[in-house]
Amino acid sequence: MVRKEIEILRKLREQAIRGDPAAIEKQHAKGKLTARERIELLVDPGTFVEFDMFVKHRATEFGMDKRVALGDGVVTGWGKINGRPAVVIAQDFTFMGGSLGEMHAAKIVKAMQYALEAGVPIVFLNDSGGARIQEGVDALKGYGEIFYMNVMASGVVPQIAAIMGPCAGGAVYSPALMDFVIMTKRTSFAFITGPRVVKAVTGEDVDEFSLGGAEVHATRSGVAHLVAEDDKHAIELIKTLLSYLPLNNAEDPPYIPTGDDPERRDPELDNVVPEDPAKVYDVHEVIERVFDTGTFFEIMPHFAPNAVIGFARLNGRSVCVVANNPAHLGGVLDIDSSDKIARFVMFCDSFNLPIITFVDTPGYLPGVAQEHGGIIRHGAKVLYAYSEATVPKLTVIMRKAYGGAYIAMGSKHLGADFVIAWPTAEIAVMGPEGAAEIIWRKELAQAKTPEERAELLKKFASEYREKFANPYVAASRGYVDVVIEPSETRPLLIKALEFFYTKREVRNIRIPKKHGIPPV
Ligand code: HXC
Repeated sequence: MVRKEIEILRKLREQAIRGDPAAIEKQHAKGKLTARERIELLVDPGTFVEFDMFVKHRATEFGMDKRVALGDGVVTGWGKINGRPAVVIAQDFTFMGGSLGEMHAAKIVKAMQYALEAGVPIVFLNDSGGARIQEGVDALKGYGEIFYMNVMASGVVPQIAAIMGPCAGGAVYSPALMDFVIMTKRTSFAFITGPRVVKAVTGEDVDEFSLGGAEVHATRSGVAHLVAEDDKHAIELIKTLLSYLPLNNAEDPPYIPTGDDPERRDPELDNVVPEDPAKVYDVHEVIERVFDTGTFFEIMPHFAPNAVIGFARLNGRSVCVVANNPAHLGGVLDIDSSDKIARFVMFCDSFNLPIITFVDTPGYLPGVAQEHGGIIRHGAKVLYAYSEATVPKLTVIMRKAYGGAYIAMGSKHLGADFVIAWPTAEIAVMGPEGAAEIIWRKELAQAKTPEERAELLKKFASEYREKFANPYVAASRGYVDVVIEPSETRPLLIKALEFFYTKREVRNIRIPKKHGIPPV
């Protein structure tokens, strides 16, 4: 016979876990899983330790005394994900739309504190109608405290937000302060103000998904780093992402042997860069051939595709990959790609992930829209991020490395440890045609016909190319450490990674400071 007290405990637990069957049915009908179902998919069986299951809100007004549920609309705890610990926070839309009141927020803040104390990642599954309207300023206080914890955790433990339902109003700022945001395709949206307010203020007619759906945030705003087909896929993405990351900033990233030969040379690499410098190629082909086969995990693939960022394994070690992609806009650095690169470099540096940069860029993008949009300010972020990063920084210059973009993309001058160039590298202040237009301006002006001018320009440009647009001038100064055949890239990068893995920051004497002021 079971003791009475144990019987009560069992009933309470069962009540908390059961939830409201009608609301659960509605949740399923929308194509969404419940908070507990999501956690079950995410954590290894038998590892989840839930706390604060009996927390209830304290509100009494607006009928709140009659609307109480154990747990207050959020499940918090820790568990193991593929054998490694993490704190998990999952909002429960089936109780008051997952809205956030005082105690709901207090649970989240406590879970984040536990993650910081233990030094483990935070995974936050968002599904909420935002501030619980009935709780007024107590709900706002709750958000404020969560944002504060997001900032305290920033750069200390990895923070991953999945938006799996509504995320409206100030609620968007917790994901925005986290390191990675994953959104589900047909079931999530995030915006500061919804369609009705937009209509009232600006007169624009827009629905929830066109305003703040996954596609918009993954392609245009840059808010979402990854898009998932559904809840299940979102959980898989979280697991994959975590597999590249250390638990905290004091730990080395995971080492997972892949069986790929460290001496493997890929002769195809010798032919990736087209002979005609005006022709493009897709940098993914280079990345796929250099890193351990099948390990490249791209982040923000659809936002600013002229830059490619992501994680990969190199001889089993987790590394960050940053690359220009000539296949989009010729690989220029513009406002969006600068933001994309800079933030990623900062993340990688915080979490001890070596940065491997592949360069083929004609420079920063010219134009009124870019200048007025602040390319100076945004472009400066790339310089800031690379200069500040103290992790091993290895750079491969494949082809164009012109002007400011040469400096920005992991150059020796911003502290790169080892710079490799392919014989196809063109390192110069600007592209040959642009340079010829300036150096030989007078000679070009004397041309009698446009055809003659074009002919002359071609001649001067080729003269310039021969003299400057190659890797040997930079190599003669030591700005490039080695010039190699492209097929040698993998074995050399592995050797350089092994050599610099134990890097201690000795190049610069860093003056102690509270923090720098990046051009945000
Ligand atoms: C209290 C809420 C709520 C909220 C939803 N609910 N949002 N209760 N506070 N913010 C309740 C609903 O009343 C409903 O209760 C239940 O949750 C499910 O909601 P439904 O509307 O039936 O679901 P659905 O049709 O899927 O619509 C979901 C929704 C919609 C799009 C999220 O509920 C909605 O627009 N809610 C309000 C969103 C909002 O304006 N939030 C405040 C943002 S301002 P019943 O009893 O019917 O089950 C903000 C400021 C924070 O967050 C600032 C921080 C800095």
